[in-house]
Parts: sequence; structure tokens; C-alpha cells
Amino acid sequence: MELMLGRDIATQKNTYLDATGSRAVLVCGKRGSGKSYTLGVVIEELISVGTQDVIPIIIDPMGIYHTMALRNDKQSNELYQWGLTAQGFNVRLLVPGIPEELYDLDILIELQRRGVEVIPLRLNASDLSPDGWCDLFDANINEPMGIALFRAVQNLGENRNFFTVGALIKAVQNDKRAKDTSKEALLNRLEAAQNWHLFSEEEYLPMDNIFIPSLVNIVDVSRLESGAYGRRNLIVSVIARNLFRARSDARLREEFGLAGKLPRVWMALDEAHQFIPDSTRSLAKPQLIRWAKEGRQPGLSLVVATQQPSAIDAEVLSQCDIILSHKLTSRDDVMALNRLSQDYMGGELRAIIGELKRTGQAVLVDDEQESVSMLQIRPRQSQHGGGTKASVIDEDYDLWK
Ligand SMILES: Nc1ncnc2c1ncn2[C@@H]1O[C@H](COP(=O)(O)OP(=O)(O)O)[C@@H](O)[C@H]1O
Ligand SMILES: [Mg+2]
Repeated sequence: MELMLGRDIATQKNTYLDATGSRAVLVCGKRGSGKSYTLGVVIEELISVGTQDVIPIIIDPMGIYHTMALRNDKQSNELYQWGLTAQGFNVRLLVPGIPEELYDLDILIELQRRGVEVIPLRLNASDLSPDGWCDLFDANINEPMGIALFRAVQNLGENRNFFTVGALIKAVQNDKRAKDTSKEALLNRLEAAQNWHLFSEEEYLPMDNIFIPSLVNIVDVSRLESGAYGRRNLIVSVIARNLFRARSDARLREEFGLAGKLPRVWMALDEAHQFIPDSTRSLAKPQLIRWAKEGRQPGLSLVVATQQPSAIDAEVLSQCDIILSHKLTSRDDVMALNRLSQDYMGGELRAIIGELKRTGQAVLVDDEQESVSMLQIRPRQSQHGGGTKASVIDEDYDLWK
């Protein structure tokens, strides 16, 4: 399975990314250098060549990828030169919460007119670990509130049992060991969490009902607060954990020659520094590190895009076996990337990146092939959204502060 990303600037040959196995990909470059556009190319290719065998997912913190439902008529001449045609894709816009509360009605009507399927995304409360729950509530696991919460989540989740936030509330109410004051504080937060309308209150929701192969699965987190312990991070954490489990189960079945329930997954995170910050913790970080380190076996690929490679967790960076770097100028970021230089490059990465000139040009480093090339990314078949829209919501927002 080969993804055609663009053309080698020196040889004019098409350049491919081998996606037969699982990969961990870093897409970087300064603001406006073409990262989100390139993510879109990767997703288009996954759908074109991956067919039913791959689930492409985009975590969309800017709310820009729904335009993939539209054809890119603006670049139809360029597309023709590449032997491609403008094309809209089937888009599933998964909205964590209640769509009518998060979007104006006009927007929902317009999305529907464009053929975008808008679906409320519900998660399983049991897919957040005891630590994750404590982090979400900013509860120290050595203090009364944290101890009570950790205990409740652990007891309910024993043997991978499903539970709801409602069940968690009951467990805390019935906890004889916890003090009333810490119970009170905890119950307030759990009730707030219930009002997010993010968690299933009925039954376990398997991932193969949520994410569908061969179409664009967008998790639109743009309407939610960011921040290391905000809802955006919560959602990514829960999805990553659930998918890891589901794919590990599917992989085991595949090894016995049985059909797996869930195809392989490629998950792309735009603005990834929000989820895997360097040196500090975040709700999603432990799960994403696990994906990067252990995801290959269960068939989980990760694509992280950022304008600030220096702000991304070093462990994840070092796990990336493909780097696609657009133009980078900040010294810290160039140096962070340069640390990933390898002998086969025949020079330091920073020198190669320094040669990039235009938007849409990128250096492709492939550790598997031990190759480095400079390429022009191919034009998009579907419309690129966004441009330079500023993020609406505060980066450092914390739900409980
Ligand atoms: N390969 C490309 N070919 C043509 N235009 C591109 C290409 N990559 C990016 N652009 C244009 O450059 C602008 C910025 O791209 P974008 O991907 O949004 O930047 P970033 O995500 O790095 O901030 C967009 O308006 C987009 O249309
Ligand atoms: Mg972008």
C-alpha cells in the first residue's frame, strides 16, 4: 500500500510513502507552510488506496477538515497535470457533545447541504484510566478526593467492565471510607462531566460503530477547550485507549485466521503539541506515547503535525520513522528536528531543511528506506479549509481552575 505524496524536486519522479505496515509520521513546518494541507493529502491517499482495510481519523482542533467533502475546483489545472481529478470525499464529522449546542443551526444546515454527516460522538467512561480520571479532575491520587476517585474507577472497571458516569456517581456516594467533604467536591465534578454529554449513559459503544473505513472520520474538537486537562485532551485520550484495545483484540483474532472486527487505523493529529507537550503532562499523552511506541503490532499508525517540533514530547519524536518537514525557521524547532538526523542522510537535517523554498515543498525522511528526498506535495483533490484562522479558544484553559 503506497501513498503518493508528491514529486521529487530533483528527479520529478512520484514519491511514495509505504503504508503497508504501521508508521509513525511527523509533519512539521512553520505556520502557513502547508502542514494541514499535507495531512489532507495523506488522508485522501489512505482512502484511495486503503479501501476497506484502513480507518482514517483526523483529530481536528481547528475545525477545518469538513471541507474535504467539497471538490478542489480551484486547482483543477494542476490536478490535471498530475493525472488527478477534483473530488469530494465522504465525510463523517464526529462532534463530541450535542451538535446543536456547539454549532449555529445555519452551520449545521450548510454542512448537511454539503453532504457532511454530523454525528454526536459518545465515549465510554470506562475507557479513561483511574489515573486519567484523577488528572481530568485535577485530583491528586495521594489526597482524599483523588484516592476516592481512583478507588471508584478501579473497582468499577475491574476485568474491563463497562461503566457509566452515573455508576461512578453512585459508587462515590456509597463509598464508606471517603469523607463527606471530598465526596461532595468529587460529586460536583462528576455531575459537571455528565452534563458534557460526552459519555455513553447506556451501553458500551464499540469503536467499529464510531469509526468507519474508507471515509474521512473527523473528530471535531475545535469547539471545546484545549489545555492539557481540557476536554480536547480527554477525548483524544479516551479514543486512543479504546482503539488500542480494540485493535489489539482484532490483531489477536487475525493471528488465529479469524476476521478482526476493526480494520487498521491511521490517526492524524493536527496541532499535536496540544496533545503531546514536551516535558509536561497531558491527559492524552500517555496513550499517544503508547501508540507511537507499541502501536505497530496492533496496526495503529500515528501522524502528528505541528509548527513546533521543539514543543512535542521527545519520546514521540524519536519514535517517528517518517519525517515530512516543510519550511521551518525558528532556531529551537530546527534544532529539535536536527536531533533526529541519521547517518544515511549524508548531512544534517537542518542543512536540508534550509533549502526548502516554497509552500508545499517538504523534505521527506524515511527511516525504513533510509532515504531523504525533497518533494513538492501533490495538489489536493478535495478542498483545503482554514488557512490562517486563529484558534478561538485559550490554549492553557483548564476545566477546574
Ligand atoms: N502543496 C500545496 N500546494 C498548493 N498550496 C498549498 C500547498 N500546501 C499549502 N498550500 C496553501 O498554503 C496555505 C497554508 O497551508 P496550511 O496547510 O493551512 O498551513 P499550515 O497548516 O502549515 O499552517 C493554504 O492556503 C494552502 O492552500
Ligand atoms: Mg495547519
